[in-house]
Amino acid sequence: MTRAAVLAGVGATVPPRVVTNAELAQRLDTSDEWIRTRTGIAQRYVVDPGMTTGDLAVEAGQRALKSAGTTTVDLVVLATTTPDRLCPATAPSVATRIGLVGVPAFDVAAVCSGFLYALQAGAAAIAAGHADSVLVIGAETFSTILDPEDRSTRAIFGDGAGAVVLRAGQPDEPGAVRQIRLGSDGGMADLITVRGGGSEERTSGRPPRPEDAYFRMEGKSVFFTAVRRMTESSLEVLARTGWQVADVDRIVAHQANVRIVHAVADQLGVPTDRAVLNIDRVGNTSAASIPLALADGALDGRLTPGDRVLLTAFGGGATWGAATLTWPAVTPG
Ligand code: UT7
Repeated sequence: MTRAAVLAGVGATVPPRVVTNAELAQRLDTSDEWIRTRTGIAQRYVVDPGMTTGDLAVEAGQRALKSAGTTTVDLVVLATTTPDRLCPATAPSVATRIGLVGVPAFDVAAVCSGFLYALQAGAAAIAAGHADSVLVIGAETFSTILDPEDRSTRAIFGDGAGAVVLRAGQPDEPGAVRQIRLGSDGGMADLITVRGGGSEERTSGRPPRPEDAYFRMEGKSVFFTAVRRMTESSLEVLARTGWQVADVDRIVAHQANVRIVHAVADQLGVPTDRAVLNIDRVGNTSAASIPLALADGALDGRLTPGDRVLLTAFGGGATWGAATLTWPAVTPG
């Protein structure tokens, strides 16, 4: 039988500081009512000074390992848009801090689709026999790249981390990752971007512009493209899995905006109450979003063993993707 990656553990964490919509409205021209109705977000978590993406990734990784009942893996893959440094990658430091010195570890940069890209890297390593177990983490401190004056992004994004442990198993086992489909379109790079900090700026011959250090998003274009790409990739992955739309028990979509998640469910023909949502509590946490929702869903019983789960995401790049898996009997660590 084919070797498959099986989800064996899940864990997540958010930083302690909560920023409510009301708190944002004290400093920006926005309101609790606008944010709730246009995005579904009531609050988000934000790191305190000194707390990094690596710190959140370590905590989520440790929790996922505990959930899987193990202390070791053969590979660590970290999806993030907000690494601790431009160089080196954050994953080796996270692996070492978790006690996994010597284990291969690398970062994946696919913005809000990052977790699905990292999941595919981990699942492929297992399927190919390069690893028997993989820790896949999505972690972000998005608050560190937001323009303090930009209400359209400040209202949406938050910090957090989530992780899963994959182990080698069989495709018909509960927890088996069934299919993953990914895509990208670099022609849309300007829709979601941080212009500064990279080789483009350094070789331009111009002094860095302070505003280029911040994250920018063309919200409206992203909204419509996200719905289209998430719907298309979901249909593609369902067909490859051999599942009908009616077979989907739960959708765990990137928590970009509750209206996006509902629009994708509507276009697919899946009842919206099958969507696992936690955006009201955590906001849009980019690469951390799907594993944070998986951990929340497992904790409060919205994900139960045997559920046929569809994951889907869209993010900067542009990047997008979808995956199918059956939910295993796991308790978040
Ligand atoms: O995670 C990666 C992928 N990201 C996403 O998928 C995000 C996709 N985009 C969205 O979720 C939505 O486009 C937003 C939430 C970003 C914006 O919602 P929208 O319904 O598309 O609003 P809009 O951009 O069309 O803006 C409508 C109005 C504008 O004012 P004017 O020009 O009509 O006067 C905005 O300036 O709403 C204004 N606006 C706000 N008003 C109050 C934008 N942000 C805010 C805000 N508070 N926080």
